[in-house]
Parts: sequence; C-alpha cells; structure tokens
Amino acid sequence: MPGIVIVGAQWGDEGKGKLTDLLAERADAVIRFQGGNNAGHTIVRGTQEWKFHLIPSGILYPRKLCMIGNGVVIDPRVLIDEINTLRDRRIDVGGLKISANAHLIMPYHLLLDSAGEARLGKLQIGTTRRGIGPCYADKAARLGIRVQDLLDEKILKKKIAAALEPKRLSLRPFAKDPSLDLHAMTEEYLIYGHRLEQHIADTARIAWELLDDGGTVLFEGAQGAMLDIDHGTYPFVTSSNPVAGAACVGAGVGPRDIAEVWGVTKAYTTRVGAGPFPTELTNAQGDRLRERGGEFGTTTGRARRTGWLDLVALRYAARLNTLTALAVTKLDVLSGLERIEVCTRYRGAEGAEFEHFPYHQSVLHQAVAETIEVPGWSEELGECRSEADLPTAAREYLELITQTTGVPVALVGVGPGRDQVIWTQAGEESELAPGGVTA
Ligand code: GDP
Ligand code: IMO
Ligand code: MG
Repeated sequence: MPGIVIVGAQWGDEGKGKLTDLLAERADAVIRFQGGNNAGHTIVRGTQEWKFHLIPSGILYPRKLCMIGNGVVIDPRVLIDEINTLRDRRIDVGGLKISANAHLIMPYHLLLDSAGEARLGKLQIGTTRRGIGPCYADKAARLGIRVQDLLDEKILKKKIAAALEPKRLSLRPFAKDPSLDLHAMTEEYLIYGHRLEQHIADTARIAWELLDDGGTVLFEGAQGAMLDIDHGTYPFVTSSNPVAGAACVGAGVGPRDIAEVWGVTKAYTTRVGAGPFPTELTNAQGDRLRERGGEFGTTTGRARRTGWLDLVALRYAARLNTLTALAVTKLDVLSGLERIEVCTRYRGAEGAEFEHFPYHQSVLHQAVAETIEVPGWSEELGECRSEADLPTAAREYLELITQTTGVPVALVGVGPGRDQVIWTQAGEESELAPGGVTA
C-alpha cells in the first residue's frame, strides 16, 4: 500500500493531529514533512489530552515508526522536552526517527523572529516567534545547521560561526545575550546531539523500504494551504510549503509514491495571526464559534479569529493539493444555529466577482465574502456515529461541500474525542477505513 498525505486545507488548526492519529492505526509509519514547532496538534483519547509540536501524531501507538523528515525545522530543546513528556506519561518513543538532514532552530533564530516582528510594528505577521522564518531563511542561504552537524564538534562550531557572521549587525542589540556565545552554544547543542543521537536516521530510506514493500506511509502536514509560502496569503504565511506537493520534497519520496491526499477542513474557518480572512466574523457570531469551538491556539494560546466556511478558499486548496478526500472536522460546533452562512464567492473593491481565489494581494485584501444561507440544525452531534445519525440539514451541508469542491467528504468530526468521527460511505472505500481493504 502506498503513501497517503494529510494536509490542512485552510489556515491551520483544522484537526490534522486528530486525523493522523486516527489513520495511523493502520499505517506502518508517519512522517512529518515541513514546519516546526509553530505547529500544535492536539489529540484527545478518552480523558487524556496530548499536544504535539514536532513529534508526529502517530507516536501514541506502541513503537509506531514516527519520523521527522528532512523538510522540518527542529528546535532540539522543544523536541527533547516532548520526548521527556512522553516518557513521563509512559509512552514508548522507540519508534521516533529524526532525519539527519533536517535543519535546526538556533537561539539566534528565535531572537531574529521576535526582532523582525517588533520592527514590522503594526504590519507584523503575528508569527509564533518560534524562529521558523529565520531558520528556513538560513537553510535557503546555505547557512543552516543540520541535525547531522550535532555529531561533530568541530564542524558544528565552524558552521555556527559562519551562520553568525552575516548576522552581526542584526544581532547587535543582543550582544550581551549569553545564549549567543559561540562556545556556549556549541556545548549546548552537542549535549542535544548526544541526547538525540539514538533517533537520528536516514528517514527517506526507511520510507522507501516501507513503500517498496507495499507498506503504508502517512505524510503528516503542519499548517495549511492558505499559509503556504508560495500559494498562501503572502506575506501573511509561514516560511514553508504546507501543500501536498511538499510531502515529496520534505520526506524524500517521489510523486508516484503518493496515492491519496486527504485535506482537513473545519466546518467553518479560523485563522491565527494577521492577514486577509474574507469570511471573518468580528461580531457575536464569531465569538460564539470561538467559545463553542474552543478556538485558542495550541502553541501560543492566542484567540483564533473565526468566520464562516470559505468555499472559494477550500476549492482552491482542493485543486492545489489534488485532494482525493476531505475530512470535515468540528461539525458539532455549528449545532444550535438556525441558519448557517457559507461563502461561495468574493466581491472585489470595484464590484468584480471572484469565484476563484484571487492571486493579487491588493485584490484579496479588499475582497469581501459573499455568502449564501443554508438551514442549520439544533441537535448536538457528539454522539452521532453514522451519516444516518446526522440531522438532514447537517447532511445537506456536507453535500454542499462535496458538490462545490468536487472532493468527497470521507470523514466527519463531531467532537474532539478519538471515537467522535463518522466514516461516510466515500470514506469507507479508503484503504485506511476500519474494516477497509487491509483489515
Ligand atoms: P491541527 O493543528 O490541525 O492538528 O489542529 P489543532 O489540534 O491545533 O486544533 C484542532 C482542535 O480541535 C483541537 O483542540 C482538537 O482536539 C479539536 N477537534 C478536532 N476535531 C474536532 C471535532 O470534530 N469537533 C470538536 N469539537 N473538536 C475537534
Ligand atoms: P498547525 O500545524 C495555525 C501561523 C502564525 C502566523 C503565520 C507565520 O497547528 O496547524 P510562523 O511562526 O510559522 O512564522 O508564523 O503562520 N501559523 C499557524 N497557524 N496553525 C499552525 O500550525 C500554524 N503555524 C504557523 O500564526 O500567522
Ligand atoms: Mg494546530
């Protein structure tokens, strides 16, 4: 069985962690392919809640191969913390593998991320301040420090010195910061290297072997299509490519290794940080979605901006990722609304109508969502386990999503719990469905 990619189809926080955890049960390995600890993936199993920033969401299965691919940027302190927390909670992390080619977030990346935001003032992006942008910038400038460098003191020190050199001016305000001392930094990162060494591996080769043997590999995305540095709402984006195509680059496989692409979308929309958001609700309705949906960031705790489902953006994400299936999460959050609004097109400043996502920044920034109203439902959905359990209006809502995007809804989330899902008829055809082809 082949590779299956899981990506966010909106602005992140769609519930990728929950879906990955669910699908991982029947996969041989999970591999993260981009982003870093800007991500926050929450998994709820029974009464236990888990939050992962770097470790793939399959880690809760005993000794499941969980890999951090070359495309990820790793803050080793955060990774070690996550490993320790898992150990404390008696989770076996023996299956964790880290690509030797992944880049490392260094103390200066954190400082530069915050300094960059401060400099932008009112125009700031609202980054997670985890050093993501500066780390990817160094990677592109060929000044990055990679996981493999942790295993050689001489090389490590040389590379850190070379990376610091062109940053002298921008780091001048932090001249007295002890974390920037070359010697101390080298020592600190060598210790991280010793700690992580047992997990460092040729992750691409492991993935090839599994795929060549007919195994199933899940490629777990972070963030979402609209935060993609090439295809998202630039410059209000992250510094990597969260789209499905990046799974190949960030894990080291080829396009022909990918058989299915699952896009995760909420039944409404949220966004953290600044940037255009055509369906945003800044009224009581938006507050209601935030409260009912618990829309506060997993990573930074920030209140998420909320709005109606944006089918213009979702159609765009569906094509961009060549989605084969949609998982619609948080349908339960919409219960209790008499009418639900859904955006089907944008209206531009001069009255122009856009059925397609506009590529021009100025057009997008001025675009206003045009919505249609569809009937809501009053029933709570938390106990629904089949399509037949859903109110008619909820089924029609899902049908509207399928019709507009051309992508079948395979799975529906009706609560944060692992069992609070509905496999639709389309979903049951997937090889990963319970009782599916590999059962
Ligand atoms: P990710 O970054 O895409 O993995 O998503 P996050 O974990 O940041 O945010 C999704 C939040 O929604 C988490 O708190 C999940 O526990 C929760 N969640 C996921 N699916 C559902 C669902 O179907 N209903 C409800 N009510 N909550 C859900
Ligand atoms: P998951 O994987 C939601 C947003 C930040 C900011 C922009 C750039 O949990 O879906 P960065 O720190 O990446 O340079 O910030 O991207 N952002 C996310 N928003 N979910 C995420 O990850 C995000 N990761 C980054 O809020 O607007
Ligand atoms: Mg998240």
